[in-house]
Amino acid sequence: MYIQIFKTKDDLNRVFTDRLKEIISEKGTITIALSGGSTPKSLFDYWAQLPEGEINWKKVKFFWGDERCVSPSDDESNYKMTKEHLFDFVPVPNENIFRIHGENDPGSEAVRYGKLLSGELETTNSVPSFDVLMLGMGDDGHTASIFPHEIILWDSPENCVTATHPVSGQRRVSLSGKVINAAKDIFFLVTGENKAEKVKEIIEQPDKAAEKYPAALVRPESGNLYWFLDTPAAKLLRHL
Ligand code: 6PG
Repeated sequence: MYIQIFKTKDDLNRVFTDRLKEIISEKGTITIALSGGSTPKSLFDYWAQLPEGEINWKKVKFFWGDERCVSPSDDESNYKMTKEHLFDFVPVPNENIFRIHGENDPGSEAVRYGKLLSGELETTNSVPSFDVLMLGMGDDGHTASIFPHEIILWDSPENCVTATHPVSGQRRVSLSGKVINAAKDIFFLVTGENKAEKVKEIIEQPDKAAEKYPAALVRPESGNLYWFLDTPAAKLLRHL
């Protein structure tokens, strides 16, 4: 596990982007699972203002770690957020965008997307394996759309699961823990003081945290795990 703390989101976005460029140059074409919510917006805005050609977007196949079960035109949609902050500004071929169809029935979409991953991705021990997996973390310790009250979903034998937001009841489709942990490079991008307590618990007492928080169950089988934190999110960590 690698932990990097950044004074500004721009520093975080730049370092993550440099690592992404290295992975693309190593592998040629890469598969990436995007996280949703608000944190990725500044990263996507950063990518959108890069000089043309700095990243060859034709070499990137875009997937999602989770999606809200809403229309792709709904403000809650992770796809819509990504389109408005990234796809509307950079030349990503349509055939490189594999969105979760939030407008579909959640159960059947989880099956469809799970099968799609098996067809599109390399596998690690027969589990679909992303080259790069972005994750956020909620202040309750959830990641992707696996929440503490449904932590049992982490161990699903399926590639994708249906989940429910604990407050709004909003249905979600999410990667399961086995697909998350099969990824080659996992990046937790976590910013904001409201995440500091869970960051401390998960990094400093991982086994205790793993009993409660799905984010503490992110332990790649053979890949790398990077915690990219801004100063506020890291403020409670003992000096590393
Ligand atoms: C989602 C995300 C979710 C997100 C965390 C953190 O669909 O909401 O995938 O896991 O990463 O909730 O969200 P913020 O970045 O908005 O704090």
